[in-house]
Amino acid sequence: MAVISNLGYAIFGVSDLARWENFAVDLMGFQVGRRENGRLLTLRMDEYEQRIVLEQGAEDDVRAAGWQIDTEEALDAFADQVRAQGVNVEAGSAELARARRVEKLYVCADPNGFKHEFYFGPAIATSPFRSSVMKGPGFLTGPLGIGHLLPRSIDYKASVSFYRQVLGLKISDYIREEIAPGIVADATFFHSSSGRHHSLATAAIPSDKILNHIMVEVKDMDDVGLAYDRCVKAGYSMVLELGHHPNDKMFSFYVETPSGFAMECGYGGIVIDEANWEVISYSKMSDWGHKRRAPRAVAA
Ligand SMILES: [Fe+2]
Repeated sequence: MAVISNLGYAIFGVSDLARWENFAVDLMGFQVGRRENGRLLTLRMDEYEQRIVLEQGAEDDVRAAGWQIDTEEALDAFADQVRAQGVNVEAGSAELARARRVEKLYVCADPNGFKHEFYFGPAIATSPFRSSVMKGPGFLTGPLGIGHLLPRSIDYKASVSFYRQVLGLKISDYIREEIAPGIVADATFFHSSSGRHHSLATAAIPSDKILNHIMVEVKDMDDVGLAYDRCVKAGYSMVLELGHHPNDKMFSFYVETPSGFAMECGYGGIVIDEANWEVISYSKMSDWGHKRRAPRAVAA
């Protein structure tokens, strides 16, 4: 069976490219890949030509997730597997492959209203990655991919089934937290074959946006704290203050991006060894911290 290796890129439609460039480069430590005059900005996290693509758009939301598959044979077999589940899969055009900087890709839509692109053969940049603000060696990517996405589920059951059966992702664990008497926040976490604790998670959260957050991980813990300080100083809102998750063991904060969805910046996430992994259910989202932003004070 052909499997997804990792989450290799993410595509967002954003309304303010200039604000995003300042946020991503000067605060979070990404490097600009290329700009297409007011239409597009690509961000680098490592040796790849691009990892996050910001396309000019009104929705301020995720447009597509890019899933890396190791070989062309496995990619073709994977597309056949998805089709065999009754899902409409289209071959991406040569133009789309060029825009994504990959050799070949396929595209399908999920029940939450965004696209999943499966590809092989990413383009490597001619210059090494360099962050203008990071203290440490950069983002943790490689075989683990760029991090994770958490889209909200309109139909939670259908979404979990799609990510598991159609994408073939494995369940990492669940978190079911009673956030108010009788109200349980229920989230399911999924990993791909290379083992980052989760490359995708979903939850039934009421939201106008598809995307709740994207997570990126850094190799030096200080780069979490330094990014936090830069974001606060620049006036960005914290969606969740610094804290620690019990399931992926990530130390992180969540900042509100210029598009309104959050970006989680973390350190220390675990990698799953499939042979020795037991799926369990947690009863809280965080061991400590991750306090929600207090409502703005009302002037007396
Ligand atoms: Fe997360």
